[in-house]
Amino acid sequence: MTDFRDLMRLRRSVRDYEDREVPVSLVRELIADACEAPSASNRQPCGFVVVADRDMMRRLSDESKKNLLNDMKTLKSPMLRLYRPVLKDENFNVFYNAPCLMYITGPRDLHSAVKDCSLAASYLMLSAADRGLGTCWVDLGSSIQDPEILAELHISEDQQIVATIILGYPREIPQRPPRSEPKILTIIG
Ligand SMILES: Cc1cc2nc3c(=O)[nH]c(=O)nc-3n(C[C@H](O)[C@H](O)[C@H](O)COP(=O)(O)O)c2cc1C
Repeated sequence: MTDFRDLMRLRRSVRDYEDREVPVSLVRELIADACEAPSASNRQPCGFVVVADRDMMRRLSDESKKNLLNDMKTLKSPMLRLYRPVLKDENFNVFYNAPCLMYITGPRDLHSAVKDCSLAASYLMLSAADRGLGTCWVDLGSSIQDPEILAELHISEDQQIVATIILGYPREIPQRPPRSEPKILTIIG
């Protein structure tokens, strides 16, 4: 087991994976670790959807790219616009070459769902790094709207996708991207 402080620096967003499946038993262990995360009122609202089928991952990538490009027509998000060239590239798979993908979902009507699921995602990514796996939160793969696809994923209308995490065995661990100085607004007392 890695020292926790080392682990926090070992976890990197990995975008290049070995051509090797992640055993389902291991994915289950990661989910169990994610469930150790705190949640508001201990509601534990997260749902986990695992996709380890490359054809399905390609379909999900295409669906999300299509919807994000559509969103750009109405949303004035400069951040989203930055991604326009890659989203228009039909060879670009938002999930890179990862063998596995996980959606973490929470109820749309639960005010704490985004916080709860993000914490679970954080635990999951750290647990994966501790087990020699790489992960990357891929928001570009979150925009799934096709009712048929959502039904196949067992994501009902009352659920929202909060976190989209790819995982697999990294070809290499990327360098740590630089971090800014902490923005400590004040320390009173
Ligand atoms: C909410 C969120 C969304 C992200 N979406 C993407 C994405 O769509 N594609 C991608 O390649 N990386 C994505 N990332 C990964 C970030 O680019 C990465 O965390 C950041 O560059 C810092 O690198 P590090 O994770 O190795 O510390 C996302 C990260 C977060 C937290």
